[in-house]
Amino acid sequence: MTVHRAVLRQVESISESRLPPSVQPLKRPPALGRAIELAFLRWEKRDLAGTERFWRDFGFHIVSASPQCLVARGTGAAPCIAIAHAGSADRFVGPAFLMSDDTDLHRYVTELGAQWLPAQQLPAGGRGIELKDPSGRSVWLLQQQARVEPLPLRPSVTAMTNTADHTPRVNRTVRTPIEPARVVRLGHVVLQTVDFAGMADWYLRVLGLIPTDVQYLPDGSPNLAFCRLDLGAQPADHHTLVIVGAIEEKYEHSAYEVLDLDALGQGQQVLRAQGHRHMWGIGRHLLGSQLFDYWHDPEGFEYEHYTDGDVFTSDVEPCYSALDFAGIWAWGDDAPASMKPQKNLPTLLRLLKLIRRKAITPQRLQLLSAALDAPARPWL
Ligand SMILES: [Fe+2]
Repeated sequence: MTVHRAVLRQVESISESRLPPSVQPLKRPPALGRAIELAFLRWEKRDLAGTERFWRDFGFHIVSASPQCLVARGTGAAPCIAIAHAGSADRFVGPAFLMSDDTDLHRYVTELGAQWLPAQQLPAGGRGIELKDPSGRSVWLLQQQARVEPLPLRPSVTAMTNTADHTPRVNRTVRTPIEPARVVRLGHVVLQTVDFAGMADWYLRVLGLIPTDVQYLPDGSPNLAFCRLDLGAQPADHHTLVIVGAIEEKYEHSAYEVLDLDALGQGQQVLRAQGHRHMWGIGRHLLGSQLFDYWHDPEGFEYEHYTDGDVFTSDVEPCYSALDFAGIWAWGDDAPASMKPQKNLPTLLRLLKLIRRKAITPQRLQLLSAALDAPARPWL
């Protein structure tokens, strides 16, 4: 009888100062300014009512809802985390970042051709400019946005977690309410791109981001960057923006912080009961360490609930690891096949088009497929 013994392994990370010559460090262009928060995401939707239902069940707090526009916030101090306008398409329009007070927005106007935004377009006041990233996506940079009073949350149960060597909870039970996982704040957005080098360079320069973890292809070229905000000595999330080299320009997912693991789990029950489409989780990510649970909104866009993520100060140097599908998560169910490009005719046609217009080389496609095709957890 053959006994199958699977090899369990963790991703190996190398800090930038110890990189072997075979791995190319990600270029760090001089920053034009400094982002201090991913403020909100902008959407266009044909059916705002469907989006509103999903947002409520997902745990957003609806600030205003009209037939033309939907605005939502979390329980935190940000006045807005998502805005959707009624339109003729279902699409992610772009992110809006809050910039530090000492960032000079005029520089973006003169050097990058940014346009000032009319005040009535800003859902939460302040001032802002619009830029186009190299893929043509609209990016807003904002300043002087007012903060709002946080909404009440139950106390977290995490501090009262009993472990084998520590039992703070005595003569008490865990009875968290069955309710939507109340979203505290918008945490990060992940963008796929054909031009990884160009997009990473642009976002690092425009937002002054710090790469926390970089993943490279078998030829040593970077292809994925988890980037954090530069908040100096104040800890910042492991990633606020993730740029992923892929075969299309695409919103991949956005992620929202909830109070604790029980909020995440009870929130899953609510979303399941309301008939929403579950995608992946609960599990723990590897790079960033978050406990996660992924959902599809009515049009199939991916949303992530998370809690217990890593945070770093600005003095921690970037780490590098080989790009490997298994490296996406530490434990949990197998990642869904929809996270990889589907092997079908539309994908093949897209690849041929990319090669024809020299957006990607067949060699790079081969490396990408070698990195992602190996089954991540053959026993799942
Ligand atoms: Fe995520």
